[in-house]
Amino acid sequence: SPLHAFLQALPKCEHHIHLEGALTPAMLFTLASRNNVTLPQDDAAFASPEALLARYGRFTFLDDFLHYYYIGMSVLISPNDFELLAWDYFQHAAADGVAHAEVFFDPQAHMERGVSYATVLKGFSTARERAQKELGISSELICCFLRHLPVPDCLATFEDPDVQESFVDGSVRGIGLDSSEKPFPPELFEEIYWRAGKLGLRRTAHAGEEGPATYITSALDTLNVERIDHGIRLADDKELMQRVVKSGTMLSVCPLSNVLLRCVKTVAEVPVRKFLDAGVKFSINSDDPAYFGGYILDNYCAVHEAFDLSVKEWAGVCRAGIEGSWCRQDRKDKML
Ligand code: HPA
Ligand code: ZN
Repeated sequence: SPLHAFLQALPKCEHHIHLEGALTPAMLFTLASRNNVTLPQDDAAFASPEALLARYGRFTFLDDFLHYYYIGMSVLISPNDFELLAWDYFQHAAADGVAHAEVFFDPQAHMERGVSYATVLKGFSTARERAQKELGISSELICCFLRHLPVPDCLATFEDPDVQESFVDGSVRGIGLDSSEKPFPPELFEEIYWRAGKLGLRRTAHAGEEGPATYITSALDTLNVERIDHGIRLADDKELMQRVVKSGTMLSVCPLSNVLLRCVKTVAEVPVRKFLDAGVKFSINSDDPAYFGGYILDNYCAVHEAFDLSVKEWAGVCRAGIEGSWCRQDRKDKML
């Protein structure tokens, strides 16, 4: 349709994509076989890529998805595996008209299985360079901490010499906070975010996906975040919404993810119209495209179907996305 072409052509920025969430069932089975990784024998979902994809369609809540997400990434072993994964994502992003991508990764989930930070970073960095060269997609890496793990473990990862080096040399632009949201409120991670700020790292955190609006307040107050990932529960608190408008904090909203994880019943229930009317800045993103049935353009199309945004409103969403990005100003100027 003409609209699909219009949405495809918009200079889109993606701010909420977990690279591990771009692992398709096909790639998962290929790498499991190549790396001799045994998949769970007692779960019929792992009988075939088709069965696994069907299981993904029946997620009941965040932790149900995370169970499969952590098993899935266990097939990633070598730098080449991480490169393949990220390159597959960047090719989808190019097809969908992404100009700039700020991508999450979960180093703790790899390091605790004996895969080094250097291995992960090497694979992702190679794919990023290729995406810049061959696809014209600029990107930044955001290192996420797993909030279900003990805070001291997260701090130890933060202080790991390889991790610190990636913060200082600019290969990682910022930090995030993901995994099971409840009962792990943002304030638990104040120390890490304070140290990150001192290093000049950009800061975001998942908040208000399954957790309440008070988690958004805590992320702003105790973590000093510049963005909020998901943040759909912001619509429950009018005063907080006004605060977010004033501060210009951008939300990275993931509509298909919210539906698949049953945070909302339909895309129409995502507070897109409320955010537009109130002046809350947000971008639209895929979260875990291989698990939630769509890449970024599918999310744009779903939002359009549910809310029928005007051309002007779409241009505004994309402009907010560019301005809310953590790339250099000269890159932003090129996209604007
Ligand atoms: N929420 C929390 N943790 C995650 C998600 C998410 O949507 N995707 C990958 N890890
Ligand atoms: Zn996420």
